Amino acid sequence: MEWLPDVVLHYSKAHYYANMAIIMLLGYHAAMIIGSVACSDGERNALLTFKETAVEADSGGWLASWLVNAGSARDCCLWRGVRCNSAAAVTGLLLSNCAGLDPTDRSVLQRLHEDNALQGVLKPNVVTAMAAGLPALSRLDLGCHLFHGSIPPQIGNLTSLAYIDLSFQGQSPPLSGPLPASLWSLPNLSYLDLRYNSLQESLPDTISNSTSLSTLLLATNNL
Ligand SMILES: *[C@@H]1O[C@H](CO)[C@@H](O)[C@H](O)[C@H]1NC(C)=O
Ligand SMILES: *[C@@H]1O[C@H](CO)[C@@H](O)[C@H](O)[C@H]1NC(C)=O
Ligand SMILES: *[C@@H]1O[C@H](CO)[C@@H](O)[C@H](O)[C@H]1NC(C)=O
Repeated sequence: MEWLPDVVLHYSKAHYYANMAIIMLLGYHAAMIIGSVACSDGERNALLTFKETAVEADSGGWLASWLVNAGSARDCCLWRGVRCNSAAAVTGLLLSNCAGLDPTDRSVLQRLHEDNALQGVLKPNVVTAMAAGLPALSRLDLGCHLFHGSIPPQIGNLTSLAYIDLSFQGQSPPLSGPLPASLWSLPNLSYLDLRYNSLQESLPDTISNSTSLSTLLLATNNL
């Protein structure tokens, strides 16, 4: 059950609000002590690169807590959708916009997107920066947003990835282009959901290179 995106997101929100409440109660100095296990500058910078370079629009305010000068919330483990392990390494980016969504009802999907989605492009240089700055990132959930363009081959450099959800990226247009072969060499990839996009070309023979993949969801693409 813990793999279901909306369940994970609820956990993440609870984690975020609980941490914010603790920080506000204890004040700035206590936050600096807690900050001894905060995320690294490299991780903060990689996340800020994602926000500033990949994201074109954020009408739902998903990344409003991701701030350059974040004061007592400087620790990026406290930012919305960011999940860290006990060593404060960033392990998840859990920003699913799919909660409560009936995937068979495209009109609802469209409305939700227009109201509340992150819009952007996963540019190669952003993914390269994420690979360099977020070496422990194992879950990437950007389901039901408005990312368009292609999935760059550099995604294969995020070698800790085990769970990727880039499903339902709207219709104007969604993710397109070929599936990068580098996906199949991610050593720990077990869950890949790319449903309802316009990804092209047939599945390559190299898909058999993936020894860890257990769930592959590709319905309604041009594969
Ligand atoms: C990142 O991925 C690209 C494309 O797969 C590859 O050419 C490049 O060498 C990788 N860079 C690093 C630093 O691993
Ligand atoms: C893959 O998963 C194993 C077992 O959880 C872990 O020890 C290893 O570090 C992971 N590899 C990468 C590249 O994250
Ligand atoms: C897949 O495996 C074959 C042989 O096992 C290797 O030659 C090829 O480079 C691999 N492809 C990728 C994309 O890792």
